[in-house]
Amino acid sequence: MHFKPPISLERTLEWFHNRGTNRLDFVTEEDGELLAMVGATNIDPIIKKGESYTIVNPDLKGRGIGTKALFLKSVYCFEIERVNKIWAYVDGDNTASIRMAERIGYRVEGILRQEVARENGLIDRYYLGCLENDLKKDSFKYGIEGQAILLYDYIAENSIRCCLRSEVTARGVGRACRAGFLT
Ligand SMILES: CC(C)(COP(=O)(O)OP(=O)(O)OC[C@H]1O[C@@H](n2cnc3c(N)ncnc32)[C@H](O)[C@@H]1OP(=O)(O)O)[C@@H](O)C(=O)NCCC(=O)NCCS
Repeated sequence: MHFKPPISLERTLEWFHNRGTNRLDFVTEEDGELLAMVGATNIDPIIKKGESYTIVNPDLKGRGIGTKALFLKSVYCFEIERVNKIWAYVDGDNTASIRMAERIGYRVEGILRQEVARENGLIDRYYLGCLENDLKKDSFKYGIEGQAILLYDYIAENSIRCCLRSEVTARGVGRACRAGFLT
């Protein structure tokens, strides 16, 4: 997915609306600035398994936003949408993505050897998976109020204030969800 900030929240939500069904998409923002886009796509109605994506604003990488956004999405998927499993393919050299996911409980379930081409040769691709019981729910303190998840950020040094909105397109119904990283 090409992510070229600045992108307005409205335009991003418009984009989400046109992306089809069986998916959850979240926009994380702070004072109108896009921090991250996260979601789960192709959620299978029988297996209740969805593919994860996490994209942090390139200017804001390395500040813990990806980890928190992935955590928030995972809690939302498991506790509100009753998704059973979240998975992702991650290139073996995407250290940040693998660390981010493992830190909150995602597991490497398999390694597809020499699947991706790089300048210097072929690298592996990882299959990461997370069931609700795998998720380290004590990674961040959070609470759920209706359809909103509040994440109380007491771990990161650089506290972040932001809100998260969810557009659930699965049933063709847009639903706003509010959540926040509170200092
Ligand atoms: C992968 C991505 C989401 C990580 O988001 P982020 O906000 O930069 O990550 P965080 O700051 O939460 O850091 C996550 C972990 O990776 C580590 N990390 C961050 N940047 C790193 C880097 N460049 N190299 C190695 N490790 C790195 C952090 O130290 C942290 O590990 P720790 O908890 O053990 O200290 C972000 O880099 C991104 O948007 N990448 C492009 C899209 C992508 O690859 N998405 C994943 C596949 S869907």
